[in-house]
Amino acid sequence: MNAPVAVITGTGSYAPSRVMTNEDFASYLETSDSWIRERTGIRERRIASPEEATSDLAVLAARKALESADLTPKDIDGIILATATPDLLFPSTACLVQARLGADKAFAFDLNAVCSGFIYAMSVAKSMVESGSARRLLVIGSEVMSRTLDWSDRGTSILFGDGAGAVVLEASATAKRGLETFRIRADGRYWEMIHVPGGGSRISEKGTPYLRMKGGETFKLAVRSLQESVLEVLSASGVSPGEIDLLVPHQANIRIIDALATRLGLPMDKVMVNIDRYGNTSAASVPVALDEAVREGRVAEGSRILLTAFGSGVTWGSGLLTWEAELQKRSRL
Ligand code: COA
Repeated sequence: MNAPVAVITGTGSYAPSRVMTNEDFASYLETSDSWIRERTGIRERRIASPEEATSDLAVLAARKALESADLTPKDIDGIILATATPDLLFPSTACLVQARLGADKAFAFDLNAVCSGFIYAMSVAKSMVESGSARRLLVIGSEVMSRTLDWSDRGTSILFGDGAGAVVLEASATAKRGLETFRIRADGRYWEMIHVPGGGSRISEKGTPYLRMKGGETFKLAVRSLQESVLEVLSASGVSPGEIDLLVPHQANIRIIDALATRLGLPMDKVMVNIDRYGNTSAASVPVALDEAVREGRVAEGSRILLTAFGSGVTWGSGLLTWEAELQKRSRL
């Protein structure tokens, strides 16, 4: 018998209701709406309320993903939650989500590859489904980045936002391609490029619990790594950029996305962009963008979709998939 193919059968997302605009930053920082829009593409971002934590956002996104897959929490074998902003140091946020959903058959663990977390989680989930060790998985990216920000630093605070996105991944005997090729990479020599020095076991005299970033260096490395990564995945799959129906990139900076689209020769109508409304939501960025693309009707049965992300670590990765949700749902009955 052939190994099962991993297919996405449902997507969901959730963003906190509080909107923080560029003007809100300009009211107390030396910055402006036009600087932020031109240099990053961001107009506004969502900020979690003091009562909301990463698991709360994740549960709401996961429920929507289950609903769109026509499944219940009891159908799920496992939950992989990508986050760099867990509710607690331990236990994992995935365990809190498992309990809240009542997904009592599901194993649960967190995975931290920061902004590349969802691509990493999908890569792990794909292997579990293909090996037969799990049949139905919830893969979630959820972040409350706002808790890590130094609100007086105009170089970082304006970039990030909060949100959660989720997919249901199933083993399919009928799907042809599903998740085709995923490649994940890391280079820990660059760990300082984007990091949060407090909150872990490393005691640092200079440590603050706030995110620090070397913006210019990060920008250049992100552009180079994303380009290499997508080209590696396309070449391993024998697919040319022209065959891609939709690129869903990590939403860190519109100029990084533009550079990638130009390199691939993809027109912007084949690129999912929602950075203007959410900023960089780290591990939630790709699944939120994917869910919006699906709900906006930009994904059809058979669409070839390319996911890609770069983040702290540094980590990066890409994945090529074919959308076969309807085929799988029909063959399930
Ligand atoms: N408003 C106004 N001016 C700002 C500013 C802001 N919010 N943030 C920085 N500046 C200033 C800088 O202080 C600098 O001023 P100086 O020349 O007087 O020193 C000037 O703008 C240019 O700074 P620079 O860092 O060169 O700008 P940039 O064009 O590289 O844009 C980032 C800065 C952070 C937007 C950009 O580097 C970036 O997006 N980097 C990648 C970030 C990223 O993707 N991180 C996450 C990866 S997952």
